[in-house]
Amino acid sequence: MIKWLVLLMVIKITPPKLTGYQKDFIYSDKRFTTVEASTKTGKTFSHIYWLFACAHANKELQAKKLNPHLSIAKEGNEYWWCAPVYAQSQIAFNRTKRKVSLNPNYTINKSDLTITTPLDTVLRFKTAKDPDNLYGEDVYAAVMDEYTRMKAESWYALRSTLTATKAPCKFIGNFKGKSNWGHQLSLKANQEDSEYERFKITAYDAIAAGILDREEVEQARKDLPQFMFNALYLAEGDIDEARLVDDDAIQDLLTNDFVKQGQKYLTADIAFQGSDKFVVWIWNGWRVIGLHVVDKSSPNEVEQIIKGLATKYGVPQRNIAYDADGVGSFLKGYLKNAKEFHNNGSPLKVRGKTQDYSKLKDQCYFGIAMKINASEIYFEADVSDYWNEIVEELECIKNRAFGTDGKLEVLRKKEVKEIIGRSPDFSDALMMRYYFEVGTVKKFGVAGV
Ligand SMILES: Nc1ncnc2c1ncn2[C@@H]1O[C@H](COP(=O)(O)OP(=O)(O)O)[C@@H](O)[C@H]1O
Ligand SMILES: [Mg+2]
Repeated sequence: MIKWLVLLMVIKITPPKLTGYQKDFIYSDKRFTTVEASTKTGKTFSHIYWLFACAHANKELQAKKLNPHLSIAKEGNEYWWCAPVYAQSQIAFNRTKRKVSLNPNYTINKSDLTITTPLDTVLRFKTAKDPDNLYGEDVYAAVMDEYTRMKAESWYALRSTLTATKAPCKFIGNFKGKSNWGHQLSLKANQEDSEYERFKITAYDAIAAGILDREEVEQARKDLPQFMFNALYLAEGDIDEARLVDDDAIQDLLTNDFVKQGQKYLTADIAFQGSDKFVVWIWNGWRVIGLHVVDKSSPNEVEQIIKGLATKYGVPQRNIAYDADGVGSFLKGYLKNAKEFHNNGSPLKVRGKTQDYSKLKDQCYFGIAMKINASEIYFEADVSDYWNEIVEELECIKNRAFGTDGKLEVLRKKEVKEIIGRSPDFSDALMMRYYFEVGTVKKFGVAGV
C-alpha cells in the first residue's frame, strides 16, 4: 500500500497508485467532472485523495496541476465531501482520517466530521440530505459522492456556494437512469465549450484495471435481472423502464385529499437495532393519518408502541399487519388477532383464482403501485421529515420480471439495497396495507383488485 507521506514543515503527499481511468477523472482540467460508474470501481478511493490533495495545494503541490480552477490552499479554506446521508459521509471521513491519524499536525474532530490540516485548511464531511446545509462560504473544492442519489436541490445549493470561490467540484455515483437529474447534469459535457467532463466506467474497465474481480461480476450478471445488471455494472440502459409507480402519482399522494375515509388500519415493518428503521403507517381507509418512525427500540417497546398507536387512532387489532419474518415473529404472542405478514408467503387467491405473482410481497407491491397510480391513496399526515426516503423507495418499486415471461416479481431486498444503499423500510410497511384489500376480496368473494 502506498501511504500519503505527510512530513512536518514541508508537506509532501504521495498520490496512491491510481488506475488509468482514475487518473483521467482526477486530473481532468475541467471545473466539473461527473463519473457514472459501476459500484466498487474506486470512485470514493480516488476522490478522497483528490480532495485531500486540494486541501494542501500550496506552491509545492501546485494547485493548477490538480485542477486549473483550484486556488492555493490558505488558512480557513474549506474542502467539502458531500454524501446523501450522514453515515456515508462518515465512511469517507474515516477512510481519510486513517491516513493522517498518526500525524499530530492534523486535528481530527469526530463529532463535526472535520479534519484540520497543518495549513489550517479544513476538510469537512457533510450530508446533503438537507440542501440548506450546503450553503456556505470559503469552499474551495468539493466532491459529491453518490450524487445520483441526492436531490437536485442539493447541487443547486452547493453550486451557489461554489460560485463565490469559482471552485471545482467532482461528482461520483452509480447510474440511476436517463431521467435522473444527475445523469442529465452529466450530459452538459456534450455541449460546446462545456465546463463539464463526463466519465463512464463499467465493471469491465475495473476488472481490466485489477480493481474488481471477474468472478464476482459474472456472478452478479447471473443473479440480477438484465436491466439491473446493465445499470449497476455497465452504467447504461434505462432502469426506469421497469418502474411501477409514476413520478407524478407519487407527488399526488400529498394532495389527493378527495380519497374517502374508511376502516382504520395499522401496518408495520419491525426493526430493533442497527440501520433498519421500525416504521408504522396508520390508515383511515386509504388515507394515511399517521407515520411513526423509530430508529432504535427493544421488543418490549415495539409492542408498546404498536398497542399505543392502535389505541390512540382506534385501530382494531384484526386490522394490524406486521412483518412477521425475522425479528417481528416475537409479536405473535402479544398481538393475537393481528395479521402476520410473511413476505415469502404464497400470493392470495382473488375470486378463487390463483394470481400470477411470485410471492405475497410481490402481490402487495404491485397492488400498492396500482393504487398509487390510480390516485387512491392520500398522505393526510405530515410525512415531510421522511419524504425524500419515501420517494426514493417508491421509485425503486420495479418489475423484476421486466422483459421476461416469468411470474410477476418486484426487486429483491438486497437489490433495492444496492440501489438506495439501505433497507426500504417505508415502502415495505406501506405495501402491507394491500394485504387487507386482497384479504377482503378473498373473504367476501367480491370483485375488485
Ligand atoms: N487505485 C487503487 N488501488 C488500490 N485499491 C483501490 C484503488 N481504487 C480502489 N481501490 C479499492 O477498491 C475498493 C472499492 O473502492 P471504492 O472507492 O470504495 O469504490 P466505489 O466508491 O466506486 O464503490 C476499495 O477497497 C478500495 O480501497
Ligand atoms: Mg463509493
